[in-house]
Amino acid sequence: MTTDIHAGRAGDPLLAVRGLATHFTVEGEVFRAVDGVDLDVARGEAVGLVGESGSGKTVTAMSVLQLIPDPPGRIVDGSIELEGTDLVTASDLVLRDVRGNRVACVFQDPLTTLNPVLSIGEQIVEMIRRHQDLSRKAARGRARELLEAVHIPKPERRLDEFPHELSGGMRQRVVIAMALANDPELLIADEPTTALDVTVQAEILDLFIELRERLGMALLFITHDFGVISELCDRVVVMYAGKVVEEAPVDRVFEDPRHPYTRRLIDCVPALGQGARELEVIPGLPPALNRLPDGCAFAPRCDVVEEACRRGEIALRPLGDGIAARCIKPGARP
Ligand SMILES: Nc1ncnc2c1ncn2[C@@H]1O[C@H](COP(=O)(O)OP(=O)(O)O)[C@@H](O)[C@H]1O
Ligand code: SF4
Ligand SMILES: [Mg+2]
Repeated sequence: MTTDIHAGRAGDPLLAVRGLATHFTVEGEVFRAVDGVDLDVARGEAVGLVGESGSGKTVTAMSVLQLIPDPPGRIVDGSIELEGTDLVTASDLVLRDVRGNRVACVFQDPLTTLNPVLSIGEQIVEMIRRHQDLSRKAARGRARELLEAVHIPKPERRLDEFPHELSGGMRQRVVIAMALANDPELLIADEPTTALDVTVQAEILDLFIELRERLGMALLFITHDFGVISELCDRVVVMYAGKVVEEAPVDRVFEDPRHPYTRRLIDCVPALGQGARELEVIPGLPPALNRLPDGCAFAPRCDVVEEACRRGEIALRPLGDGIAARCIKPGARP
């Protein structure tokens, strides 16, 4: 069991994930995609969940929404509480109220969310009426307001268009509008800009920054890009090989990362004006999730590794001021 570093923090969080383990069984092999994750999101807080591809970010988000495909996946341990209601054991009725209403999400590819044969207006109206007792006319009015809120030009006309008539960036704005339709308490965004052109990425990111300031909902923003975190988030949670390896307030983590992996990820973010960001420049690859090594999973790639790192379980240790790191020599530099 992981140490509860969140115990004693002021105020109950909106979302409290404890000891979450979500495993996939493929051809008899168990892949520990998420393995003992603790994660808090307070009301109105923006938490960035960051890590390389395959670190378990999406599986964490899908676990929160109870959308893990079973088989091959299964939540094998832990709890996920939304204001005290455990979503892991919740009934379908409770989950229907949670999804799209209390917790909304925006995924990487807007086409996975949008229905190609329904107009934009029909889809937003349906989303609104699923959770709110509004007439079609009133819901359509609300849909138009939502398109305005995400800065879609000519919203009245757009309502009658179909997803294929919109650009990728405009489609993602529609998905964000749908996510906001029922005033969610928590918005989960899983790499919402990754599939878009670079210039459009910046615009969508600006939209998230603006919406968060204006609407004040809690945000769990998933990205493999540390640069994005600094502009949008209050706190960052770093994942590696299915585990949280560091968490810290954003203003602290950039000046003083405690986990060597976090330090390397931050080093991948070039200073402003130095051109495109290079991804995954840390040499080596994350470990296979069906054959995790003893000791620290980052050891094979760590530039300050020592013998003691390769033995036993390395715990996520609280270091004060809301900072925690899963490392036996936090802050060490080569
Ligand atoms: N549908 C699936 N079937 C089998 N394994 C899966 C599936 N989805 C995820 N996984 C496993 O979970 C790991 C973590 O995936 P994911 O959470 O999508 O990573 P991230 O979002 O951080 O890039 C994958 O590397 C894979 O081993
Ligand atoms: S525990 Fe050891 S190998 Fe792992 S990150 Fe810390 S120093 Fe590196
Ligand atoms: Mg992902």
